[in-house]
Amino acid sequence: MKSSKIVGLGIYEPENVVTNDDLSKLVNTSDEWIQERSGIKQRRYADINEKGERNYIMGARASQEALDMAGMTPEDIDLIVYATLSPDYVFPGSGVLLQRELGFRNVAAIDVRAQCSGFVYGLSIADQYIKTGMYKNVLVVGAEIHSTGLDFSDHGRHVTVLFGDGAGAAVLTATEEQGKGILSTHMHSEGEFAEKLAVIDPSASEDPKYNAEMFEPGGSAWPVMDGQFVFKNAVVRFQEVIWEALKTNNLSPEDIDLLVPHQANMRITQFIQKKMGFPNEKVVNTITKYGNTTAASIPMALYNAYKEGRVKEGDLLCLAAFGSGFTWASALIRW
Ligand code: ACO
Repeated sequence: MKSSKIVGLGIYEPENVVTNDDLSKLVNTSDEWIQERSGIKQRRYADINEKGERNYIMGARASQEALDMAGMTPEDIDLIVYATLSPDYVFPGSGVLLQRELGFRNVAAIDVRAQCSGFVYGLSIADQYIKTGMYKNVLVVGAEIHSTGLDFSDHGRHVTVLFGDGAGAAVLTATEEQGKGILSTHMHSEGEFAEKLAVIDPSASEDPKYNAEMFEPGGSAWPVMDGQFVFKNAVVRFQEVIWEALKTNNLSPEDIDLLVPHQANMRITQFIQKKMGFPNEKVVNTITKYGNTTAASIPMALYNAYKEGRVKEGDLLCLAAFGSGFTWASALIRW
């Protein structure tokens, strides 16, 4: 049976770098508080008006780089999978905007709404279509613009300081090589805690409690998060889904050459490292420079590791994510 492997990677980093000190001019916070709680030193904010850094434009720039690395053109792609929680429009999804922007054929464009797990969900979707032989080349994108939807008042500052903007993309292709490429993917959800990290449209919320907590007078909706609850769930689910990937393939944590976790928060990653015994040199950390870019965080982290020469032929990579929903997912890849 065919399997799928990543042959192209690309990212787009918005030009505007916002350090913690810059942010503390907009929000009542400090560099010390942010670094101690999250490890974040800076993030990037897209500039839509001056630089046109829209979600799908950033996705297109990342995709173009991934296509170039793969030696492909849009003509070669059989399916677009676009993961984002901050789409350009309520509808249609950003996948079709990307199709138009880069001039892909009239192939299917699937938008994935799985928040921080979106890119790994996207890889899993791509992998299934490639394995069945239905498609040969699939583009998976993760892109986010958080900066236009954050609460800069004291009420939301524990959420606001964590998030940044950016995009990442990967091109997957079919391979006959045995034991290479994506070995397995694993996806989960638990809607029980949907409101623990969410943006809820005032008109769609059934619970007056959430209306009172979440909305400014006039009805603007901002992300709300029960930070400690999210932390406790994240550290459990991350470990579970990494173990699931390992057990499925009869492997152990020592077999992993590189862990590419969703860049949620440095403290969450460090907790998992400690529990599962991953040394720093086997773990990718980009949260210090990008903050949390949800669906874009894993492809941006993977790209950085690849460019730094940390991903070598034959290496075993584990991608793992947890996020709003809750959703969580992993992918084990033999590079
Ligand atoms: N700057 C300065 N002070 C702040 C800020 C801020 N940005 N935000 C909150 N505070 C203050 C609060 O007002 C509070 O003050 P008080 O003690 O005088 O009342 C104090 O800091 C502690 O506030 P908490 O909200 O309880 O902060 P906590 O210690 O829980 O840290 C944090 C918040 C960092 C979000 C933590 O809960 C956490 O790491 N949670 C994990 C969630 C996460 O990482 N989410 C990422 C997105 S989800 C994902 O990607 C998986």
